[in-house]
Amino acid sequence: MTKAAFYLITDSHFVSKRSWTEGRPFTMRERGDQIALKASPEILDAFIDKILADEETDTVIFTGDNVNNGDIASHEDFRERLKRLADAGKNVYVTTATHDYCGMGDDENFFKACRYTETGTEPAPYMRKAELFDYYYDYGPKQAVSVHRGSGSYSVKVGDCVRLVMINDNGNGRSHCGLFEDGVKWLGEQISEAKAAGEYVLLAVHHPVLPPWEVYRHMADFELYGGYRDLWKLMCEEGVRVVFTGHTHVQSIRKYTDGEGRWFVDVATIALVNAAGKMRRVTVENGVCDVVSVGIDSIPGLDTNGLSLYEYLFRLNLPGAAETLLKTAVTDYDKFLAMADGMLPVDKLKKHPALVKAACKKLLNMRLSTVAKFGKGFGDLTAEERKKAKEIKVADVMFGILRHIYPGNAPYTPDTVEYKSVIAAVRRADKLVRKFHISKLEQIIPPGSSLEETARPFLYNDRTGDDDAITISLD
Ligand SMILES: [Fe+2]
Ligand SMILES: [Fe+2]
Repeated sequence: MTKAAFYLITDSHFVSKRSWTEGRPFTMRERGDQIALKASPEILDAFIDKILADEETDTVIFTGDNVNNGDIASHEDFRERLKRLADAGKNVYVTTATHDYCGMGDDENFFKACRYTETGTEPAPYMRKAELFDYYYDYGPKQAVSVHRGSGSYSVKVGDCVRLVMINDNGNGRSHCGLFEDGVKWLGEQISEAKAAGEYVLLAVHHPVLPPWEVYRHMADFELYGGYRDLWKLMCEEGVRVVFTGHTHVQSIRKYTDGEGRWFVDVATIALVNAAGKMRRVTVENGVCDVVSVGIDSIPGLDTNGLSLYEYLFRLNLPGAAETLLKTAVTDYDKFLAMADGMLPVDKLKKHPALVKAACKKLLNMRLSTVAKFGKGFGDLTAEERKKAKEIKVADVMFGILRHIYPGNAPYTPDTVEYKSVIAAVRRADKLVRKFHISKLEQIIPPGSSLEETARPFLYNDRTGDDDAITISLD
């Protein structure tokens, strides 16, 4: 029997407590980044506690954006956490990405390290890209079977049957986050060597190889792994079945199948510091790769203002902020303005309280039946569905969709009244967009696709059926 097991953490966006003081500047930074920066140490520690409690799993991997801003203080405190894992006997393997270093003007990485004071920022010592390899040498390269020094990529043996290739894809920091020619050659060699040794090959890389939604690729192709089409081809030709990715902060499991029926799966993991942030637990046994997800429900000692951990973190995300802001605008306008600071044009909102409140109220009270009627789909609903559509609020459907953007597993399957009503409206909108050439909307539709096809994966999981778990045959 052959076996391997590891945990995967990505996008921990760790910020040292030494890098900020409570005040408007860092609160605004957190709102801008829309992830839990202030609580990032507590969140990471809570996940590490979970890992340490599991004696069955001896390996932990981190796939980049480990810290948020490339500052040395955060790297030091992050590396302390790695040491804690290693001291407890875990194998710890790390790759890095664009948030882990600061641009020197010689590439497209624009991150700048700083310390946030009560009133502003001050420069802070920072990590250069060329320093990362040595800084994290003990966590990957040191244990590696093979190292590609040019990119900082390496491969390690996990258990007795897996060769895990940790691709360091930090490229030029923006428009090419992938390997260059010699790195691609090295990757090919790793796959051949592993196969010759009878090992299963798993890949891990920061940037997505498949996008969470096609509209993501259409709008932001450069956010994908640089050279992803070549990697699709390589994985299909060589029978490499799985690549683990991060970067999008979205929990997504998608499968790619080429014209000859050859396939692979991209297991993309949500950012650790996102609402409902999770890590993956991966096992390989007898040729079967099993992926599950592990989250945390609470963090002892973290002040969440009486909210559950999920609700506390959710408000920091764009979907959570939108939901909270819309509801608060109706009930407490001053509170709404304070919460909107840094996200919405507060000066303008201050001038039109009655108008904004009325618009929010109208939106919050609109029923799903209005949407179905707009789509000329109301008559196609059953009597019971029509009754439901008159009761369900559009805002709740919208919030339901938004709540699943990052954690995956979108909620409205084709048999639901929510799906039928929204899709009817989207179909009508598609016709109107094309008839009147509404360019802003036309632009988001990938060529050869439709608004309906673009919207569908936001309504229900049409990826592989479950963004949290999958079982993959590696043979
Ligand atoms: Fe990230
Ligand atoms: Fe990233």
